[in-house]
Amino acid sequence: MKMWSGRFRQPLDPAFECWQRSFDFDRRLLKYELAASAAHARALKNAGVLSADELISILEGLQKIGESSALSFVEDAEAEDVHHFVEKQLAARIGDVGYKLHSGRSRNEQIATDLRLYVRAAIDVLRKELAEVCGAFVERAERAGSAAMPAYTHLQRAEPVLVAHWLLAYVEMFLRDADRLADCRKRLNVCPLGSGAVAGATLPLDRGFMAEELDFDSPTANSLDATSDRDFALEFVNTLSLLALHLSRWAEEMIIFSTQEFGFVQLPEAYSTGSSAMPQKKNPDLLELVRGKAGRVIGNATALMITLKGLPLAYNKDLQETQQPLFEAVDTALALLPLVAEFMKAVEFDHQRMSDATQSGFMNAWAAATYLVNRGVPSRMAHEQTGKAVKRCVEKNCELQDLTLEELQELNPAFDDNFQDCLKQASVLAIHDVVGGTAPARVQKAIGAAKKKIDSLREEVHAHA
Ligand code: ARG
Repeated sequence: MKMWSGRFRQPLDPAFECWQRSFDFDRRLLKYELAASAAHARALKNAGVLSADELISILEGLQKIGESSALSFVEDAEAEDVHHFVEKQLAARIGDVGYKLHSGRSRNEQIATDLRLYVRAAIDVLRKELAEVCGAFVERAERAGSAAMPAYTHLQRAEPVLVAHWLLAYVEMFLRDADRLADCRKRLNVCPLGSGAVAGATLPLDRGFMAEELDFDSPTANSLDATSDRDFALEFVNTLSLLALHLSRWAEEMIIFSTQEFGFVQLPEAYSTGSSAMPQKKNPDLLELVRGKAGRVIGNATALMITLKGLPLAYNKDLQETQQPLFEAVDTALALLPLVAEFMKAVEFDHQRMSDATQSGFMNAWAAATYLVNRGVPSRMAHEQTGKAVKRCVEKNCELQDLTLEELQELNPAFDDNFQDCLKQASVLAIHDVVGGTAPARVQKAIGAAKKKIDSLREEVHAHA
């Protein structure tokens, strides 16, 4: 039986009927639909609409639907959507009393509730996976020890940093993503049940009770907003776009570092593929797909934004179109994260090559200028004079450490015997001794701080499980 056929004189055009259904994709909300329906049924009983026996039979029916659908993928050629599916199933199992469940409610509040429950659960899983990714990066940072590599600005050699410092930069991004997800979770955790179709339920349902049943913080405040609001989905998918964007920046860097020109990274065979034509190839497919998937997630966020733009209040069927981009963004992000964590465990860093790359390209030039600053030379002059020293090196095809003291003193008499020491990689690293800098002791502390943050992320996720 349809949910709405009474006023219709004609059947639907079969092609249209099939096309407007959402069951093919919203059946993945079944678990949440059943939980929300159980909360509604209990509220109906409390409001005196259902007898105790009717409630028991509805709850048992809902539970059975859950059990049988857990075993196999649910199919139903007639169900319009997951809400219709549950009503049909319930009536088939417990008879006409099943049709009492929909008393005083609308699918508009149901879909809004199901989606909030779905996003909330997705956030918890995503944050757990993010903790694992961060863990894998920190583990590599610890293993990298005192290894150094070039840091780039404008993709030109800039200054040496610890490999660990570079890895921790990504941990910061992912921890912010986890934070943003938590923030999104806070705001979405209100319950639309009892909002009805647009104006509020037509029966005196205890909305606070239903919210509590589903672990929401409170009921939503306005029925028009509650039935038409998809901000939570938009915020969430935008947050996933940012996460995907971070992952794609990482992937891009790893791709560059894995080229023979750089040779900093050896691609793990388990996460690479070959070429059907060129026998020698080992391609960074995992990384390229990670980079490519960002386009898809950002596309999902854009799709949501455009679908919502200009929608009049309150529910409009356009809102059905917000589901697939949401699901796709979750599926994409959830598939990516474990692969990234495993890739990070398996990838090999060529620390020798990384370190060798810090030995040329004047990566100690700012340290050289700092040497002069520490001897009272104004920074602008120190910069200029060190720049001249670099110019001399370029002409002679050598590095700063190869200039003679006489050559240096021509530029500034403050250059002294101990100048050579400040040019060494260890000294260059050590002078960046500030919070957030790459001096080894600072990085050591940063590793400790990152581990703590990951631990508390894991605890938070655990508390929601
Ligand atoms: N399948 C619908 C959706 O996802 C459920 C809500 C239907 N409401 C309505 N008034 N037709 O939006």
